[in-house]
Amino acid sequence: MHSLTLSDPSLLRTHHFINGQWVAGRSGLALPVHNPALHPTRPEALIAQVPDGNAADAQAALDAASAAFKLWRVRPAKERAQALKRWHALLLQHQDDLARLISLEQGKPLAEARGEVLYGASYIDWFAEEATRVYGDMLPAAVNGRRMMVLKEPVGVVAAITPWNFPLAMIARKIAPALAVGCCVVAKPAEDTPLTALALARLGELAGFPPGVLNVVTASREHTPAVVDVWLASPEVRKITFTGSTPVGQHLARASADTLKKLSLELGGNAPFIVFDDADLDAAVEGVMAAKFRNGGQTCVCPNRIYVQRGVMAAFSQKLAARVAALPVGPAQQPDSLIGPMINARAVEKIERHVQDALAKGAHLETGGQRLQGPGLDGPHYYAPTVLSGVTPDMALTQEETFGPVAPLFTFDTEDEVIAQANDTPFGLAAYFYSPNVRRIWRMASALECGIVGINEGAVASEAAPFGGVKASGYGREGSRYGLDDYLHTKYLCQGQLD
Ligand code: SIN
Repeated sequence: MHSLTLSDPSLLRTHHFINGQWVAGRSGLALPVHNPALHPTRPEALIAQVPDGNAADAQAALDAASAAFKLWRVRPAKERAQALKRWHALLLQHQDDLARLISLEQGKPLAEARGEVLYGASYIDWFAEEATRVYGDMLPAAVNGRRMMVLKEPVGVVAAITPWNFPLAMIARKIAPALAVGCCVVAKPAEDTPLTALALARLGELAGFPPGVLNVVTASREHTPAVVDVWLASPEVRKITFTGSTPVGQHLARASADTLKKLSLELGGNAPFIVFDDADLDAAVEGVMAAKFRNGGQTCVCPNRIYVQRGVMAAFSQKLAARVAALPVGPAQQPDSLIGPMINARAVEKIERHVQDALAKGAHLETGGQRLQGPGLDGPHYYAPTVLSGVTPDMALTQEETFGPVAPLFTFDTEDEVIAQANDTPFGLAAYFYSPNVRRIWRMASALECGIVGINEGAVASEAAPFGGVKASGYGREGSRYGLDDYLHTKYLCQGQLD
């Protein structure tokens, strides 16, 4: 077993967090958590074991959240805001421990993990502020003698199902708005990365969240349906917020139909990144580096298809390949490492399949294109940062999200052609383009079918902005004041007999 030293050892939790208590799983089964940087067969790869949850655990969490909701929703907004502010301060105070946990279970380099702690914390701070600004509305009455008003109310118990790629930021940006407006949460973190979520719950406990306001149940991929089905079937759960794959999002939408839950679904992406021939090429290369290689390419907003106008393709691909070839790959703890291991064997196999398929169909390898193993790279999960040119729509990586450090370059000639290609996907999360031409900027911003557009900018996410997609990338928004609406009902009051 890995010997993990944290400044505050109490952050390493190995139980469910239900009704303010750390409780063992009712099934008695354990879910091992591994460090993806090490070969899974090595004993040190095992970081900890958490409960592999079941339906009874899910029900206990739901009962606790339902009971807590009655009290939490009527707490003055300022008190909820203060609790979130204390939670935020604790995250900052424990940022080194949290970054260690993120790196260990998810694999991202330590500097990036620290960035994730601050990123996640920024949502908590933002929604703590927003908690006190959930305004209603007074409407002009349609007839005399009446007053017509709108109240905003918390939807109720929220089930948050979160992914492994940002084990802290994704759960923080779901829990914070929910708690801010008076909802209570039952959460199920990804099976690969439950420890960060449990550490966050521990900090919530220290921040003084009342019992039941936040509950975390851990489960393996195999037993996740048993947990989530309880929440899907219950009319007490009024909202599901999910980040993950489109097929799972579709399943959640179907399974929520009987109880007509509100849904926020942040699903798969297939982001285009477009470089016009009038673009600042150095800035565009930096944009790709920031957007594509963040978290080793394991983000939903990663450019998956990079379109470069013919006249600048040679210069762009040369500059990009030089930057990508120089990216240091290594375990999180290695101070200069910028690309860590992929999360698991399935992830590396998909990357390998995409690259091999592209090469077999005529793509050209500019750099990378293979698994990396050797001194300092212990496990089988490292993949070389890769640039492919000559990529065409018939290749698998054009249609499917690669979720790895692979930058495929397509050549285009005209604006109309690239808009058609960029939109030729069921997905619509993010898109990016580089050009200084103001008229083109507005044409492109309106023509791209997606929820987020980076214009001469590769790093787009912010707590102050709405994050979410269209088409098969889902619906609902996280972050910003739009993200708060997803946790609120609009209630109309009509008062008569006033004349
Ligand atoms: C994601 O990959 O789902 C989220 C990335 C982000 O918040 O920027």
